[in-house]
Amino acid sequence: MAAAWNQRKTHWGLDKNLNKHKRKIGELPPVYPNGWFALLESYQLAKEQVKHIAVLGENFAVFRTKNGDVKIIDAYCPHLGANMAEGGRIIDDCLECPFHNWTFRGDGECQSIPYAEKIPPLARTRAWKSCEINNIIFVWYHAELANPDWMPMSLEKISSGNWWYHGRNEYLINCHIQEIPENGADIAHLNAVHGPAMIISKIFPSFARHSWSGASWSLKNHEFNENKTSAGININTYDNITDKHRAIVTLNHSFSIFEKYSILCLKIRGEQIGPGYVELFLETSIGTVCILQTVTPIDKLVQRVVHMIYSPPLLGPYARVIFIGECLMFQRDVNVWNKKKFQKRPTLVREDKTIISFRKWYSQFYSENSPTYNSVKSLDW
Ligand code: FES
Ligand SMILES: [Fe+2]
Repeated sequence: MAAAWNQRKTHWGLDKNLNKHKRKIGELPPVYPNGWFALLESYQLAKEQVKHIAVLGENFAVFRTKNGDVKIIDAYCPHLGANMAEGGRIIDDCLECPFHNWTFRGDGECQSIPYAEKIPPLARTRAWKSCEINNIIFVWYHAELANPDWMPMSLEKISSGNWWYHGRNEYLINCHIQEIPENGADIAHLNAVHGPAMIISKIFPSFARHSWSGASWSLKNHEFNENKTSAGININTYDNITDKHRAIVTLNHSFSIFEKYSILCLKIRGEQIGPGYVELFLETSIGTVCILQTVTPIDKLVQRVVHMIYSPPLLGPYARVIFIGECLMFQRDVNVWNKKKFQKRPTLVREDKTIISFRKWYSQFYSENSPTYNSVKSLDW
């Protein structure tokens, strides 16, 4: 389904071992926050299919029943420990273990043991809460095993088919999960990392120096928030009392030449929903392009980030152009994240204050038993 042209995968590759010894990691917040995390996209799990997904320090068996429901249970069988997601079969609404054919329902209870008269009461595995929203399969993770107190919401334009899917990209990034959403609160990096000078000088080095010296991004105040910082982001964005798991950031990007001729105007509204999911709406004069971003920790300092793009059908070609730009921009952030350390007590200036608000807001997703860098064993063994 995903077109090859927009598949981008960034692996840590050769840097991994070098970084291990040389890179400082800083004093980190807990490594797995509480919330909904993406495990798969809907099209990646067919009916009567099971997949093994190892993230958040857990091994999930994610399966889809014959009637299309998604279930998530622990992958390891309580009998003798086979990984049921590797070679297991879906039979009716159950996952059958490939080792001795015990079957388990989506609620984790053992349904049948083909060679035994009685099912022992302890024959059960852990079941995980899941939901399938906006063509993404999420799992609920909580360090204290608390029930979900919020849900990702379905976007009507996607569920009704009014917006079409135009592709995806996927990255693996070496950093703490919090660094990725913190980018949205870090206004000062926009000009330094994503400014037109950076883009143009990369593509046309000499042209940029002479002809584009007047080009600029301008960040203008957005209209619906009262309390603005000088850069145009509302610090109350991270202090939403009624819906505290949602934070909203809006920006007006206009790209003009010689500070006069505007050639691109984008109104961007980003909603950070919980610790690992973002809905980004780019409003242009000809319609809205929507990018969904999921961030899932696959190890304590390895994040899988996926972007999926949607727009009205007629805007398809335009959406793809925007998406290519987004890939290039995101890669710039990745280059920083892959090498930086987490700065627990950063030296900030007044203009950086949204970062403080963001950190305070994000801390709601950590709880007493949230796994820390030292409490989690690495995947290396
Ligand atoms: S290990 Fe799963 S049925 Fe025996
Ligand atoms: Fe960025």
